[in-house]
Amino acid sequence: MKLLFGLLTPDMDRNGFTCGEPALDAYLHKQAGQDMRRGFATVIAAREEASPNKIIGFYTLSAASILLTSLPEDTARKMPRYPSVPAIRLGRLAVTSAFQGQHIGSLLVLDALHRACCNELAWAVFLVDAKKEKAAVFYEKFLFQRFEEHKLQLWMHRKQAKSLSHCMLKKL
Ligand SMILES: CC(C)(COP(=O)(O)OP(=O)(O)OC[C@H]1O[C@@H](n2cnc3c(N)ncnc32)[C@H](O)[C@@H]1OP(=O)(O)O)[C@@H](O)C(=O)NCCC(=O)NCCS
Repeated sequence: MKLLFGLLTPDMDRNGFTCGEPALDAYLHKQAGQDMRRGFATVIAAREEASPNKIIGFYTLSAASILLTSLPEDTARKMPRYPSVPAIRLGRLAVTSAFQGQHIGSLLVLDALHRACCNELAWAVFLVDAKKEKAAVFYEKFLFQRFEEHKLQLWMHRKQAKSLSHCMLKKL
């Protein structure tokens, strides 16, 4: 199966997407296009080359920032003393039910890390929001770390994101 990853465009069929999480389905059906137009999120869709209008997975990326004090002390100590740390947030991630368990979710995470690392925008930390504990466990497989205060929000240092996206994209 050859996959295509790219910006969500109006010609793609959003309504056929269903992942088992109604809030994520509704987001893609109703909100994603507007978020793109208004600069609230970049939405990247995965499709099969054979049916390029059918969305089989998607994720969102947005600029973000976090308080320096929310990072573990040993990491924060190595950063400049600015009160906040520039970040990129992967806010939503979903794979349509029929394609789950085929590593498409993993490929979407790697694509997100890769896009973030290729971008000229400055950021030091990559954030992911997990909707549920199960999703947090999924992200831990990539060595994302949980925040002490918000166990469903996880983070990764830029350096780690860079090496992960490079070495894993080479392998796949
Ligand atoms: C979570 C989700 C994106 C994962 O995508 P996927 O393509 O099914 O996952 P992958 O096939 O890439 O799985 C990669 C690994 O994570 C594990 N995994 C997948 N989904 C998981 C879940 N919900 N909980 C825990 N582990 C999970 C797989 O077992 C696999 O482990 P392995 O490599 O040791 O076999 C997808 O199942 C989904 O869309 N779920 C509904 C929406 C959702 O919960 N989104 C979460 C983000 S908020």
